[in-house]
Parts: sequence; structure tokens; C-alpha cells
Amino acid sequence: MNQREVNIREVGLRDGLQMVSTMLSSEQKLAWCARLVEAGVTDIEVTSFVPPKVVPQFADAAEVATGALAIDGLHAAALVPNLKGAQRAFEVGMRRVHYVLSASNAHNLKNVRRSTDESVEDFVRIAAARDELGHEVMLGAGVATAFGCTIAGEVEESIVLGLVQRLIEAGAQEITIADTVGYANPAQVRNLMLEVLALAGPVPVACHFHDTRGLGLANVMAAFDAGVRAFDASLGGLGGCPFAPNATGNINTEDTVFMLEAQGIATGIDIGRLLAIRETVAGWLPGEPFTGAIARAGLPATFVQREAVAA
Ligand code: COA
Ligand code: ZN
Repeated sequence: MNQREVNIREVGLRDGLQMVSTMLSSEQKLAWCARLVEAGVTDIEVTSFVPPKVVPQFADAAEVATGALAIDGLHAAALVPNLKGAQRAFEVGMRRVHYVLSASNAHNLKNVRRSTDESVEDFVRIAAARDELGHEVMLGAGVATAFGCTIAGEVEESIVLGLVQRLIEAGAQEITIADTVGYANPAQVRNLMLEVLALAGPVPVACHFHDTRGLGLANVMAAFDAGVRAFDASLGGLGGCPFAPNATGNINTEDTVFMLEAQGIATGIDIGRLLAIRETVAGWLPGEPFTGAIARAGLPATFVQREAVAA
């Protein structure tokens, strides 16, 4: 049995659904999770603890989180934008919590209505709240707009690296570097990720790319070459950012798995099953744009799927 060499973390239920107007039921979301686990996806961001009035799709966050925690083999994570969100996630017993702030102060103000510095301070409080819990929680921190911003333009590497340093010092157990608005190119990714990996040392580092300008998969390879071994992706490429106009979705899970597996890099994920889940989810979300070259063209006859591995 192959070792999983790269961990593809599904964010379709969170990043994907936050822009979708069709409300899915909690049962549908949980069925989506359970089938992903059967396909070999073990890390899923299942929901986001934001106020229901900000993202009505996540009004059932507690229910989905609780249901997801009961799915065997699933490492369910939830996104939280502030301390209140983290407290809600801790209360239902989440074992993985992903916090996010933006390197661009202007984007952070729009997204969570506070400065980036205030969001770092909020993270310090979240880490303290985690330390007081009776159960273990893996608390990750993401730096969004790390490669540029639709509002502020250029984002300097030193700003991103400074935030990574502060988040790790505050207790982040994993760092995700995100190209929220799809500005990154492979050379930029390679440079920044080499620096982030050197700075993070033993703290695991993941990347989160959007395919807004068609460079999502090229950026995955650049980050892989730099040493990154965990990537967020979204089934059917669903997703977007409310403050990044025309942002298409995340990199497409099926295509990402195909690209890696075709090169002999094991993901543990079965593409055929992913495509079947995609059909089901697309049926639930009429009118939503689903991307994907493999869904359109099929796998090449020469493709050899590596054996799916358990978590
Ligand atoms: N979950 C539920 N309720 C929350 C909450 C959360 N995470 N955070 C705040 N609230 C509630 C507060 O309790 C308060 O309720 P009250 O009016 O009954 O007292 C109310 O919302 C306002 O709280 P405040 O702290 O002033 O929040 P805000 O209005 O400044 O909004 C965020 C801040 C972070 C909650 C909001 O901007 C947000 O949800 N942003 C995330 C957007 C997003 O999902 N982006 C994409 C992914 S990164
Ligand atoms: Zn995103």
C-alpha cells in the first residue's frame, strides 16, 4: 500500500459553499463528507463558524460539525474568523480549527471588520482559549491575500513572513498560505514558500490556491517543489471570496489529484469516486459553475490510479 505523499484537504463545503445561494441541508453536507471519506479524502473543512446573517449557508455549522465528528476516518476541521467563532467550534468539540486573517489590512477590514493587527490579537486569545480546553485541538492559522490583494495591490513578502512568525509564536500548530484572490504565479510561490518553510521549521505548512487566472495547478507544483505537502482544493472547483470580484473557485480537487497521481505522487484519493460525488453535488446546486478538465475530458487511457490509502 502506498504512503500518502501529499494531503489534499477538501474545502468545497466551506470555501465552495460560502458563495453559493442554494441552501444545502445538513444531511446533504454530511452525505457529501461521508462519500469523500470513502473516496480517500480524510481532511475536510466541513463548515465555518460565522454569524448566520453573514453567511446563511453556515447557519447549521454546529449541526454539521457534530455530524462530521461522528464520521469514521474523517478529520473534520472548521474555519473561524474570530474568537466567538472559535468558542462555538470548541463548544461542539471540534478537534481541528482553522483561523484566517489577511496579510492585506484593507482585505482584513472588509472581511472581518478589523485590522490585521487586531486579528493577530484575536488569535492570541483563541490560542489561550484552546489551551484551557479539556480536549486536544489542532489550531491552524491561515494568511490570506499572501500573494497580492484586489484592494491593496502588492503584498510584501516581509509582511507575510512577519505574520507567520507572530502566529507561530502565538501557538499556531499549522500555517496555511492562501492566494485568496488568484494573483500568485509559480515563481512567486516558490520564493515565498521556501521562506515560509524555513521560518516555520517543524510547524506544518499548507497552501490554498484559487484558479482565478488559470495558474492554480502550476502554483501547486511550485509549492510542491519548494517542499509543501498539503493543499486545499475544492470539488468541482467551487468557491470564491466575497471581496475578490470574479474570483473563480479554489483549485479543482479532481484535477489536482489527477496532476499529482499522474506524476506518481500518491494522494490516497480515488478520482473515479470524486467524479461520482461531483455529479451528485452538481445536481444539488443547479446553476453553480463547476470547473474541471478531468470531469470534461475524462482520465487518459494511460492513467494509473495509485491505491487509495486509509487515513
Ligand atoms: N459566530 C456567531 N456570531 C458571531 C460571531 C461568530 N463567529 N462573531 C460575532 N458574532 C455575533 C456577536 O455575538 C454579535 O452578536 P449580538 O449583535 O447579538 O451581540 C454580533 O455578531 C456582532 O459581533 P461583532 O464582534 O461586532 O462582529 P462584526 O459585526 O464586527 O463581524 C465577523 C465580524 C468576523 C463576525 C464578520 O465580519 C464575519 O463573519 N466575517 C467573515 C466573513 C467570511 O466568512 N469570509 C470568508 C471566509 S474568510
Ligand atoms: Zn479560498
